[in-house]
Amino acid sequence: MAQPKVALVTGAVQGIGRSIADRLLEDGYRVVYSDVNAAGLETIMEHVESETVRVRAMVLQLDVADESAIQSAVNHVVDAWGSIDILVNNAGIRYVTPVNEITRQEWDRVLAVNLTGTFFMTQAVLPVMRRAGWGRVVNISSFGGQAGPLTSGAHYCASKAGQLALTKVFARALAAEGITVNAVAPAAIETPEMSKMTPESLAQVAKGIPVGRFGKAEEVAAVVSFLVSETAGYITGATFDINGGMLMR
Ligand SMILES: NC(=O)c1ccc[n+]([C@@H]2O[C@H](COP(=O)([O-])OP(=O)(O)OC[C@H]3O[C@@H](n4cnc5c(N)ncnc54)[C@H](O)[C@@H]3O)[C@@H](O)[C@H]2O)c1
Repeated sequence: MAQPKVALVTGAVQGIGRSIADRLLEDGYRVVYSDVNAAGLETIMEHVESETVRVRAMVLQLDVADESAIQSAVNHVVDAWGSIDILVNNAGIRYVTPVNEITRQEWDRVLAVNLTGTFFMTQAVLPVMRRAGWGRVVNISSFGGQAGPLTSGAHYCASKAGQLALTKVFARALAAEGITVNAVAPAAIETPEMSKMTPESLAQVAKGIPVGRFGKAEEVAAVVSFLVSETAGYITGATFDINGGMLMR
């Protein structure tokens, strides 16, 4: 019997990435929970309940900003499981620093994780997907990259806009090879990252959401689950808005 497809999710310890990885595991894929946070990764397997499911889960420590580590991480997964069919570029960091206070160091780090990480992760899995003649890449961008900031800094917004451009670049390059590349652009999803915002700031954001509530990580995961499925093979280079109606276009 054919083995289930392999999905690698970056930033999978918590928040949106965790929900996506859990959903894909539930969907029956083999799932690599990858994150820079080694201590967080140690707790993942405790939550994977049954032995039958545990054989389909792997944890992998990786800082997506570390180009030299990316190739060995990809090799590690391919050696163990033979392929990487699905890549979800979710790892991201966000600062709210005003434009006049952003340092070069902070700018470089945000771009390195959010944008450069997306590029080199995708580049590294391409040969594997090309060999298989099938692949799905989903980039977790943001409303901030489409409409400008609600609360996020210039570096974050620029990195997220850059991910949307990369989505189209890779989608066009790979469309004829069975590999689709799409983006989702969430806004105001309840995650540990969002809980860092002040109650005032949260109340301000909530007022501007037409559906009248924050989004759930599971709602983002459901869209990703569809985009990586066989059924979504005719969708590529697209961005899916998940923002409670804040941006309608
Ligand atoms: N929460 C929202 O409302 C929202 C809105 C728009 C976009 N997003 C995007 O969704 C993604 C996930 O956001 P979240 O709210 O779940 O964030 P989060 O901070 O709760 O989780 C991010 C995860 O990424 C990991 N990570 C950070 N830097 C990394 C690195 N260099 N290498 C590997 N892993 C790293 C963290 O350890 C963490 O587990 C991000 O790309 C974010 O920009 C979130």
